[in-house]
Amino acid sequence: KRLVLIGPPGSGKGTQSPIIKDDYCLCHLATGDMLRSAVAAKTPLGIKAKEAMDKGELVSDDLVVGIIDEAMKKPSCQKGFILDGFPRTVVQAEKLDEMLGKQGTKIDKVLNFAIDDSVLEERITGRWIHPSSGRSYHTKFAPPKVPGVDDVTGEPLIQRKDDTAEVLKSRLEAFHRQTEPVIHYYANKGVLTQLHAEKPPKEVTAEVQKALSS
Ligand code: AP5
Ligand code: ZN
Repeated sequence: KRLVLIGPPGSGKGTQSPIIKDDYCLCHLATGDMLRSAVAAKTPLGIKAKEAMDKGELVSDDLVVGIIDEAMKKPSCQKGFILDGFPRTVVQAEKLDEMLGKQGTKIDKVLNFAIDDSVLEERITGRWIHPSSGRSYHTKFAPPKVPGVDDVTGEPLIQRKDDTAEVLKSRLEAFHRQTEPVIHYYANKGVLTQLHAEKPPKEVTAEVQKALSS
């Protein structure tokens, strides 16, 4: 399967991805995670991306298209993938179709994590992540067994630099202005499924599984 997950910041893309990945043996390509590791490692890519990310703005189309083009070539992605946080502009969606067209493949399904903006601040400001694995927790909705510590490795959890109420405002603005048109792009192609992303995580998982089994 070749899947795209679209939704605003905090809508649950990163929470549902590992479950879908295990159920269908897909590779999980999250442009946000890849960019954050590049920023942490101070690679040329990371240096270029940092300023926009800190402000909650989108990184340039060319940079992210390059990352995805490279990542999709990995052997583990040949059977299928989950794109989490990509494409986020219509230009990115068109470039993706072009890349897949060259391989004779296409996107099978797009899941839209539809949710009201008003619940996202609480989700974003309560999130703690384990940077090396990408696992995320929430102080109220998904607390780790020991506060501040990853359940699996015992390593410390951190908060993302852009997970403040203020930066969230810019991220939401970018979503509505630049990413919502991508939802229409896929609706017109007939591959879009709407999810009720405000429901508890397990209910969202059930909706995802239903969408993918049909
Ligand atoms: P990115 O990392 O993609 O961030 P985002 O889109 O803002 O999405 P989030 O990771 O915040 O949300 P999520 O849906 O994964 O939420 P999660 O499941 O963790 O991008 C970061 C930046 O990188 C961008 O701002 C941009 O600068 C750049 N970038 C990335 N991709 C780009 C691209 N393609 N083009 C240009 N620039 C790009 O959940 C959030 C919290 O809520 C967690 O604590 C979780 O435990 C909790 N939670 C999850 N589901 C539920 C539920 N159902 N009920 C209650 N709590 C829940
Ligand atoms: Zn995420």
